[in-house]
Amino acid sequence: MDILQKIARYREEEEKLKWEGTFAEYLKILKEKPWVAQSAHSRVYNMIKDAGVEEVNGRKRYTFFSQHLFGLEEALERLVEEYFHPAAKRLDVRKRILLLMGPVGGGKSTLVTLLKRGLEEYSKTERGAVYAIKGCPMHEDPLHLIPHHLREDFYREYGIRIEGELSPLNMMRLEKEYGGRIEDVLVERIFFSENRRVGIGTFSPSDPKSQDIADLTGSIDFSTIAEYGSESDPRAYRFDGELNKANRGIMEFQEMLKCDEKFLWHLLSLTQEGNFKAGRFALISADELIIAHTNETEYRSFIANKKNEALHSRIIVMPIPYNLRVSEEERIYEKMIRESDVADVHIAPHTLRIAAMFTILTRLKESKRPDVDLLKKMRLYDGEMIEGFSEVDVEELKKEHPDEGMSGIDPRYVINRISACIIRKGVPSINALDVLRSLKEGLDQHPSITKEDRERYLNFISLVRKEYDEIAKQEVQKAFVYSYEESAKTLMDNYLDNVEAYCNKTKLRDPLTGEEMNPDEKLMRSIEEQIGISENAKKAFREEILIRISAYARKGQRFDYNSHERLREAIQKKLFADLKDIVKITTSTKTPDEQQLKKINEVVARLIDEYGYNSTSANELLRYVGSLLNR
Ligand SMILES: Nc1ncnc2c1ncn2[C@@H]1O[C@H](COP(=O)(O)OP(=O)(O)OP(=O)(O)O)[C@@H](O)[C@H]1O
Ligand SMILES: [Mg+2]
Repeated sequence: MDILQKIARYREEEEKLKWEGTFAEYLKILKEKPWVAQSAHSRVYNMIKDAGVEEVNGRKRYTFFSQHLFGLEEALERLVEEYFHPAAKRLDVRKRILLLMGPVGGGKSTLVTLLKRGLEEYSKTERGAVYAIKGCPMHEDPLHLIPHHLREDFYREYGIRIEGELSPLNMMRLEKEYGGRIEDVLVERIFFSENRRVGIGTFSPSDPKSQDIADLTGSIDFSTIAEYGSESDPRAYRFDGELNKANRGIMEFQEMLKCDEKFLWHLLSLTQEGNFKAGRFALISADELIIAHTNETEYRSFIANKKNEALHSRIIVMPIPYNLRVSEEERIYEKMIRESDVADVHIAPHTLRIAAMFTILTRLKESKRPDVDLLKKMRLYDGEMIEGFSEVDVEELKKEHPDEGMSGIDPRYVINRISACIIRKGVPSINALDVLRSLKEGLDQHPSITKEDRERYLNFISLVRKEYDEIAKQEVQKAFVYSYEESAKTLMDNYLDNVEAYCNKTKLRDPLTGEEMNPDEKLMRSIEEQIGISENAKKAFREEILIRISAYARKGQRFDYNSHERLREAIQKKLFADLKDIVKITTSTKTPDEQQLKKINEVVARLIDEYGYNSTSANELLRYVGSLLNR
């Protein structure tokens, strides 16, 4: 299907969804689908829930967010459970302004945008359908037409509670256009669209001195006063402020605390009673979710000001901290790069991971535990299994600093440095060293870094540089082994067979001759010695491994090469030990002989085919490792 056909199909589908009828007909819809009368908050909550909820490690993960926001599961769970869910149940929190508070570049705007775009789509679905009084600039809820004294009866018949008053404009239209006959008032299905200013609005503060409340609540239309005779005729008023337009949906209030405090006071009645004042009219009921965002500094000075107390108690603050997991940070960069114009540059394996390690380190706070340094904490947070630590320890660590994640380097800075380094290098390929160098240089130009932080950050750069050196060496050594995974697995299986026989005091059978043999002590020791296991400790080590294997078996899991951190290390070292010299000589020679050249080409080919390098980055890696091994 070409694009023109798709456009036509899209238009047809939009047409099909349209509906218009009288209020009487709308009531029939309500009988069948009572949920269309839900409040804005409830619609947002259902939108999130309908997209799916997974339970991962006792933590809820909402599909609605998880495709776009990474590593914020805890904050999002809190947001949904403590705000959206109770707000959907018409509890009082829904009248509060939701204020997302977090460090720069931590995903606040992304989160709000997701909700706004999501709601636009949701309003086109059956479950998210919204109906409004036709021709109303505020898309008023048709149920407001039902007079107060009948609302209890309505509830008994329909099971739907009505909240809010008919607006002055529709009150007048009801009299003038429909002669007071509520059942004839025209109702239509509406579709949220920020561009068309239906149900989605954004307000951003301008100069605090000249900020006009009309931007929020609309204003008198002077050209029509002559026609209607008075400023208090609602027809002479333009209900086109952001609060009006966002009625039934979401209004984003950008940088709310940058507004003048007097301006914010206008929000008091809105947050108290769910209605706002416009012009010379009675209060107007608003059914909308107001989401504001701000950073910590602004928030602190806002609450420090006594004058803001009244408003403060009408705000629900939800912290949106930085992500603290390396793997998720890597995904953030991947996403940002995919969306940028440097998407086609080759980024060598481990590059983004190394950058992410640096970033996460800048966000972490030292633990009081002497056995946990920042690197270890970083690994634990990322879900790595470290001997002697369990889930419980990780939770304990998190509790030590509740404000962790509110400071540090933001993802935009990293992406800027990656772009800078791509442009400078001029080759369509970058590696971890390039990025670390660029991050380091950028620290000098970074506007908001103190001298102490700078020192700390430089330290982190050398720390992750060491991590990278290890990774780089391992990568090259692996590439030197023909079919590394296979060899490691064979060696490991062999070792485990021998350990089993040793512990159970049985014999092994030679696979070729069928002859019985004793466990191969020399083989076992050659592996154990790699990680410093002494003759005295070997028995305990072997028994521990057997216990581990049977624990895995009980859970129905396979014990494999990656299941035991230290054993993996031992196997790897054993495989590399035999190679050490050849790697060292081959990678560092300036004038390789024919044999060496063949090996180099073989290794480069393997790095490209199996490890995701291109020829530039593979050769850079070999050269770097050569220099490391010859230090
Ligand atoms: N946890 C995250 N998951 C996915 N992307 C993220 C995350 N944190 C930040 N980003 C990305 O980083 C960039 C900056 O995020 P965003 O603009 O949403 O931050 P912000 O909190 O609104 O920042 P500011 O305070 O500067 O307005 C965006 O491209 C966003 O996609
Ligand atoms: Mg923002």
